[in-house]
Amino acid sequence: MLDKKTFEENFVKFSGMKNKVKEDPNLLSFHIYPEAGWLNDPNGLCEYKGRYHIYYQYSPLDENKADTCWGHVSTEDFINYKREGTLIYPDSRLDKDGAYSGSAFIKDDKINFFYTGNVKYDGEYDFIKEGREHNTIKLVSDGYKYSDKRLILDNNDYPKDLTKHVRDPKIYEKDGYFYMFIGARSLLDKGLVLVYKSKDLDNFTYHMRIETDYDFGYMWECPDFFTIDSKDFLILCPQGLASETYKFQNIYQAGYFPIEIDLSKKTYKLGEFTELDYGFDFYAPQTFKDSRSRRILIAWMGMPDADYTNPTIEYKWQHCLTIPRRLSVKNGKLCQNPISEMENIRKDHERLKIGEVYEDFIFEALAKNTKDSFVINLRRDVSLSYKDGILTLDMGDSSFGRETRQVKIDTIGDIRIYSDKSSLEIFINEGEYVLTSRVYSKKAGFYSKDLDFDLYTLNSIDFI
Ligand code: FRU
Repeated sequence: MLDKKTFEENFVKFSGMKNKVKEDPNLLSFHIYPEAGWLNDPNGLCEYKGRYHIYYQYSPLDENKADTCWGHVSTEDFINYKREGTLIYPDSRLDKDGAYSGSAFIKDDKINFFYTGNVKYDGEYDFIKEGREHNTIKLVSDGYKYSDKRLILDNNDYPKDLTKHVRDPKIYEKDGYFYMFIGARSLLDKGLVLVYKSKDLDNFTYHMRIETDYDFGYMWECPDFFTIDSKDFLILCPQGLASETYKFQNIYQAGYFPIEIDLSKKTYKLGEFTELDYGFDFYAPQTFKDSRSRRILIAWMGMPDADYTNPTIEYKWQHCLTIPRRLSVKNGKLCQNPISEMENIRKDHERLKIGEVYEDFIFEALAKNTKDSFVINLRRDVSLSYKDGILTLDMGDSSFGRETRQVKIDTIGDIRIYSDKSSLEIFINEGEYVLTSRVYSKKAGFYSKDLDFDLYTLNSIDFI
């Protein structure tokens, strides 16, 4: 349990940590990272009264995840950010072991937040089948304050064949009804999504479930459901998939099913699951639609339970969010591209000719490719190479356990790279394939013996 008071009592410790963070040579320049402590999933993404609100799973003291609360930053332009402190503390019986992930839904000029209150009982339990509550809680808010924590669903409302892992609600509105999509794990260790239905955003009744008729992991976390160009997509994070040569290389995945669904008739057909990212650090993506009708995605640039790590721990912080990306649909597939605001952090432009070296870590680089093989050095000891239809990201030997990732791509037409001090986001074929990773090389040096690049130096984003 971490209420505001306990948090403030820890403040001295926390401000010491904040000073330490500032000393980190790996600190980021254009990504959202925590002031100190641990960050994971983006939560409650929305645009409200002209401001974008970005919340995230936040564990300030990074010792005991029971202090998981919702950190908060806001921005109007994705360049100037404000650190807004904490929205939700785990300060009630309903969420005493963590204010877990959730989302925002704006209605009647109010933000309705739905999230999971994590509760663990004292005693010897497995905390999967027993000893745990995952309460679905609602807050009505202006983004900064809320009235009360209202219990919407608890263990008694979830189907009886499920474990106690039922979490991460997301709302979708259709034909006058509100549907809540929640990730879950069955007693038979099958991942699935539960759908609840409501007329008023207060009373939800069980509606249907979405699952595969083949094995596809034991748990589905962080579902998101939305429509682009009249096509429906179900994003989720399955856990428990076996790795294949060019697929599912991380411990857990983040991807989507194209889905044909009739919510009123409770019928659906899932298309092929496609990963949203092929790098080392991408999980728990969440999307929202803004007032310009853009579907924007932000993900956690991290990976739970991975066997690689981050040297930032020494400086008292871990993880960041990806840059915001706009989703679009091409040939039935979701593509991700940096939102256009990212162009506003561009500073100087140069044409980096074949063989020329840019001696810094922070840049944006764009190339057109006509070759069927190439090598690009992202750092002197980190490379991205393409040969025989396989793209390989090789992290060298200084990326704290990250080694190589490979993806099959028939042809590569264009490449766009965002490189921050300790992160890489690589967009291929206008966002058809993306590779996102933390990187901790000390050897700056961006060059290619095969391709010319348009290179931009970049300004930092500002936090006040
Ligand atoms: C995904 C996740 C969610 C959960 C949250 C807890 O990374 O495990 O399912 O709500 O993190 O921090």
